[in-house]
Amino acid sequence: MTDFVGRLRLGVNIDHVATLRNARGGMVPEPLRAARIAEAAGADGITAHLREDRRHIGDADIEALAASLSVPLNLEMAATAEMQAIALRHRPHAVCIVPEKREERTTEGGLEVAQDENRLAHFIAPLRDAGCRVSIFIAADQRQIEAAHRICAAVVELHTGAYCDAHDEGRLAERDAELARLREMSAFAHSLGLEVHPGHGLNYDTVQPDAAFPEIVEINIGHYLVGEAIFVGLDASIREMRRLMDAARA
Ligand code: PXP
Repeated sequence: MTDFVGRLRLGVNIDHVATLRNARGGMVPEPLRAARIAEAAGADGITAHLREDRRHIGDADIEALAASLSVPLNLEMAATAEMQAIALRHRPHAVCIVPEKREERTTEGGLEVAQDENRLAHFIAPLRDAGCRVSIFIAADQRQIEAAHRICAAVVELHTGAYCDAHDEGRLAERDAELARLREMSAFAHSLGLEVHPGHGLNYDTVQPDAAFPEIVEINIGHYLVGEAIFVGLDASIREMRRLMDAARA
């Protein structure tokens, strides 16, 4: 059973620093520089999603991050043979398995674990054996959580996109229902011994209710922090998120 005493961890996702770099096809802004600023601003980990189409983070970014971070690297990736080989080469602290569709703008839903249990169990076993903490990105759904537990994942990352969208669009009853579901499923996952992380679409307005769940150990946030950095700088955007998370936990 995970011990959840201690400071809530903030994982900073730097994918969209690479999005901005790739818009011009050059070298800047550099994701590694962003990661260093994030570390100094209080990030407890750096998350990067190596997509099959390399639309933001590229192989060289993963190489640079794996070689020089002083905080843990969480590599997000699809369950493909290519990605498994990359993860086994770098052995990041954590690997988060996400669903991936070429045509989507971002990771739209959680992984369908229950219907792909056998394949996923075999897929994650070598990652676990290599010492990576394997996390599965899923909807806050009991069936999916049970399946993630059966395949021996260490962590479930619960998709907060529906909660955040409902909040941003002013559908408050729906937002509250999504939040209640996240709360209930966080407790359920924790009761099975899984470590619980929420993530996707979180911002200064939506982070605190999740941060207050006692079972939550880490929160992964990217797009909002990088967007806010345009106005206040990356250091300040991360420090403010950290402050809000700590206040919610106090
Ligand atoms: N967690 C997972 C598994 C994700 O796929 C993403 C988006 O890449 C995030 C967290 C971060 O989401 P956002 O960039 O919206 O904060």
